[in-house]
Amino acid sequence: MMKTEFLGLKMSNPVMAAAGPWSRDGKSIRALLKAGAGAVVTESVVSDTLLDVRPRIALDGMAAQNIRLYSDIQIEGWEREMEIAKSAGGVVIASISAHTPSELAYLATKMEKFGADAIEISVSNPMWESLEVMASHPETVFEITKEVVSNVKIPVLVKLSQNTTNISSVAKAVKQAGGSGVSAINTVRCILSVDIDTGRPSLATYGGYSGAPIRPLGLASVATIAQTVDIPICGIGGIFDYRNAVEYLMLGAAAVQVGTAVLLQGPEILRKITSDLEKWADEKKIRSVEQIRGYALQNLKSFDEIKIEPATSTASSVPCTADCDRCVRTCMYQAITKEEDNICVDKERCTGCGVCAEICPAKKLTLDW
Ligand SMILES: Cc1cc2nc3c(=O)[nH]c(=O)nc-3n(C[C@H](O)[C@H](O)[C@H](O)COP(=O)(O)O)c2cc1C
Repeated sequence: MMKTEFLGLKMSNPVMAAAGPWSRDGKSIRALLKAGAGAVVTESVVSDTLLDVRPRIALDGMAAQNIRLYSDIQIEGWEREMEIAKSAGGVVIASISAHTPSELAYLATKMEKFGADAIEISVSNPMWESLEVMASHPETVFEITKEVVSNVKIPVLVKLSQNTTNISSVAKAVKQAGGSGVSAINTVRCILSVDIDTGRPSLATYGGYSGAPIRPLGLASVATIAQTVDIPICGIGGIFDYRNAVEYLMLGAAAVQVGTAVLLQGPEILRKITSDLEKWADEKKIRSVEQIRGYALQNLKSFDEIKIEPATSTASSVPCTADCDRCVRTCMYQAITKEEDNICVDKERCTGCGVCAEICPAKKLTLDW
């Protein structure tokens, strides 16, 4: 049912495993494919592998900071790893990263020769400012993409950073250079926390933030690209369940990738996401990704389009016996009072900001609009 084609690659479903240490070699890629991934993106392959710092991953609930520096397997070693990865069938996309177009082209041709079905260029990295700068320059991204595209026959995806002022112009550069698609987003530069007793940050340097808290950033990036550039998009960032995957598809992604959820729960999370997605699609009689791709975009207007509408919305007064006065305490317009067993909203003072409806634990308050 959710069988799909992304960049011409036939996949059992649109949910892929993202680049990361969970796809660090042939064996781990096979495990992800076995767990139901529609495709797997390898951990980024580089020309000079670096020694890893320890520790390199810090966690906070459903979020992570990492300072892992790409694959620790030399490019020649990837011949054997790709053989193992591809031995059980399935789509494997080679992620590559480097500072120059010629280095990237070299890595791409090697990985194509080793059997990769597509290339994903990872242009950004929150640990390396130089790469972050590169990722936000459309001219540089154009050059990189063009060089890789002209050296391989397989599709070329470019993975974009959210740390840029205009993600649309970067996506446009990928399209103009002949890239087959874009993935968005990579991790976001962060410091997860500071121990106030020792003064030590969570990790020894700035790292990449991933997991549930970056989902809204990923969703906005995907929607922005979908509304401005006609190019296939792979949505990434904070996907933990099938609903999150559908959100990305409805905002214009043709496929999605899952990273931190695999880090926190293991490859089997992919089986859960893909089988729940399948079940949901069956129930809704959805036969293909195309049927829902971009479905929510019609309800996503620009701010200029919505601000001309008159501000008529107000919250409704409701009976409420709960021992709670959160709506009263937090109303910034002093529009709400609690009188005996009723929440009363002064419609003259209420401006329809929406906070009371969001904050009410019993979901009693609603906005009329
Ligand atoms: C530990 C770790 C290592 C990662 N390594 C890579 C990498 O080698 N190449 C890359 O392009 N992205 C890498 N990423 C970024 C992920 O592929 C993904 O874009 C990001 O984590 C957001 O998705 P998520 O919230 O589902 O994790 C890494 C992420 C984590 C957490």
